[in-house]
Amino acid sequence: MNIGKHASIPLVAVVASVLLLGCERPPPEVVQGGYRGLAMEQNYNPRLLAESMKANLPPEALAPAAPGGPNVSAVYQNVQVLKELSVADFTRIMVAATLWVAPKEGCNYCHVPGNFASDDIYTKVVSRRMFEMVRQTNANWKSHVAETGITCYTCHRGNPVPKYVWVTDPGPNHPSGVKPSGQNAVASTAAYSSLPYDPFTPFLDQANEIRVIGTTALPSGNKTSIKQAEWTYALMMQMSDALGVNCTFCHNTRAFSNWQQSTPKRTTAWYAIRHVRDMNQNYIWPLNDVLPASRKGPYGDPFKISCMTCHQGAYKPLYAAKMLKDYPVLIAPAKVEQPAAVAPEAPVEALAPTAQNL
Ligand code: HEC
Ligand code: HEC
Ligand code: HEC
Ligand code: HEC
Repeated sequence: MNIGKHASIPLVAVVASVLLLGCERPPPEVVQGGYRGLAMEQNYNPRLLAESMKANLPPEALAPAAPGGPNVSAVYQNVQVLKELSVADFTRIMVAATLWVAPKEGCNYCHVPGNFASDDIYTKVVSRRMFEMVRQTNANWKSHVAETGITCYTCHRGNPVPKYVWVTDPGPNHPSGVKPSGQNAVASTAAYSSLPYDPFTPFLDQANEIRVIGTTALPSGNKTSIKQAEWTYALMMQMSDALGVNCTFCHNTRAFSNWQQSTPKRTTAWYAIRHVRDMNQNYIWPLNDVLPASRKGPYGDPFKISCMTCHQGAYKPLYAAKMLKDYPVLIAPAKVEQPAAVAPEAPVEALAPTAQNL
């Protein structure tokens, strides 16, 4: 969880870790992502990568349910989302959800004992919305999650509350009379820089403008301040951290703003930002009224989603393990009406760099 993270790290530790990074063993592996000679590459330490891959293994898929049998609506009283399923498929997804979200607690984490139809337990109400969110993501946000898609496990990994969630951060205590600046405190959320420590609220919940660079050759007309640029950089640090990559995974650093010189992954990231906002705005926030106080931040806002919630340090969550293909019931059928808007169009398709657009 990203709560309470204003570590004060002595300079000596920072210097030591920089030195250590400089002489990591064994020699790093380099993966080229952009045009030759532009240093658009990722450096991986094979030892740390192997560890991360082990920590991101998907669980084994459950055996498929027997085909046929009655429809769930003919048998149960209160199925509102997974309506088109057979009883066998429905039971299988209940078992899977239990293993993904509440393996220790079991069915009764989301059910009133002895009454599966009852909604008198908030975890069931939350889960129903989560089923809608996952199904909508897999059907309508392919611009981000492709065919890999997501399941409850992508975020939950066996925990009732995902490990990486965030709430609006009131920041460290300030002596009276000092106005909090929202930055200048070493924050893990901004990769231990002293950039603004809450890059989430303005960009992954609200839809503030991320782009700050002027679009004209001369510095006329660009009203964006350096302070705004610092917020953008904080978000970029957070995104890089969440995906376990550096800036050149997406950008050509000679022109951060230029889409033509970016890698196609930047376009995916553009959609990802809109996708995360959609989930927080349209799925998580509306649950705030049913959540208990223990599931809210100091400002009373719900635990929300960031890139880290799914990616957890991997460029693709679970290193692109294809879990969804074993659970097709987690894709919303076209005929079920979806409350949220479908993915918007990206401003410009990022192109692989060519001699022309360099
Ligand atoms: C993570 C939460 C969660 C867990 C754990 C869970 N369920 Fe459910 N269950 C739900 C939700 C949400 C619904 C309603 C689905 C809908 O409206 O489409 C539901 C509905 C049901 C229903 C339909 C009841 C009715 O009459 O409407 C049955 C039966 C059921 N679950 C059985 C189980 C069993 C058996 C287990 C344990 C193996 C289990 N569930 C574990 C969330 C959960
Ligand atoms: C994109 C990430 C993500 C995915 C995918 C996801 N969840 Fe969640 N889940 C969250 C977040 C964030 C919270 C905390 C906010 C809340 O409680 O509304 C949460 C909370 C919950 C809770 C409440 C637990 C508690 O103790 O308060 C349940 C139950 C739950 N999810 C079930 C599910 C089920 C079932 C699925 C799959 C259908 C699922 N989730 C998929 C992010 C996710
Ligand atoms: C996973 C892809 C990705 C990574 C990694 C990434 N960025 Fe970005 N960056 C984007 C996207 C997408 C935008 C545009 C966001 C939007 O407009 O919604 C952007 C925008 C920017 C902008 C604003 C450009 C403008 O037009 O004003 C700057 C500056 C920037 N990034 C710097 C960085 C830095 C520095 C890093 C490394 C710390 C970094 N980025 C890492 C995807 C990425
Ligand atoms: C709901 C879970 C989820 C969240 C939250 C999430 N992602 Fe993703 N992301 C995925 C999945 C799944 C894929 C794999 C798609 C594929 O196989 O191509 C992916 C792929 C990507 C890729 C493509 C990587 C590549 O190598 O092609 C980028 C870039 C990316 N995400 C950026 C982001 C950013 C930036 C954020 C936060 C703003 C974010 N994602 C949040 C699930 C998520």
